[in-house]
Amino acid sequence: MKIDVFTLFPEWFGWFSSQRHVANALACGSALEYVNPREHTPLGAGQVDDTPFGGGAGMVLRVDVLDSALRAHYGVDPVELRERRRVIALAPSGRPLDDALVDELAAEAEMTLLCGRYEGFDERILEHFASDVVSIGRYVLSGGELAAMVLCDAVLRKLPGALGDERSAHEESFSAALDGDPEYPHYTRPAEYRGWRVPDVLLSGHHQRIAAWRRERSRERGAAAEPPRRGA
Ligand code: ADE
Repeated sequence: MKIDVFTLFPEWFGWFSSQRHVANALACGSALEYVNPREHTPLGAGQVDDTPFGGGAGMVLRVDVLDSALRAHYGVDPVELRERRRVIALAPSGRPLDDALVDELAAEAEMTLLCGRYEGFDERILEHFASDVVSIGRYVLSGGELAAMVLCDAVLRKLPGALGDERSAHEESFSAALDGDPEYPHYTRPAEYRGWRVPDVLLSGHHQRIAAWRRERSRERGAAAEPPRRGA
């Protein structure tokens, strides 16, 4: 998987790339590349954003700047680029990132992530350059960088070699193996601590009963986890 991240703050990703499962994925043939639109701006003094038409607070990432940066990197019109590869803009208004979308993206050979800053993107970037708009939740971050890291983390850990034990990604929260439910609870030693005992079934060595117990806990968590909407 080759991921190009368009960001005004590439240095933020230094820590991220050094995390073990990300480093493992990179060692197994994945690649993360960073492109700073400021280095490709056609405007003076490294300008990349501007005030919103119609007024309002904050600054908006300019469409001409993203056009130049994408064109410089890929050598094609970004309007055509999105026909050939996933170009994903991170924005709170986008499609919610969930395990199904992560699986879909993990099957791609390459993708591009666009990080907005300040008030976000000029809408024409989303309309004409992005193939997808993705949100990591119903809250507003100060930019798309953390959202891009969340997406990369979730995708890269699905790839072979990223995790020490491939079973970790198979039967985990929201996976098909658990019918989309959250994962069951885990326990480790000591078997009793301050009077809190690990459920007997997990110490029984009875694999079928353990599997049935886990499935049931997972279902319970799924039923309890439906989030209330604001104002509901
Ligand atoms: N940029 C700002 N907030 C965001 C969010 N919630 N998801 C994705 N990108 C964002």
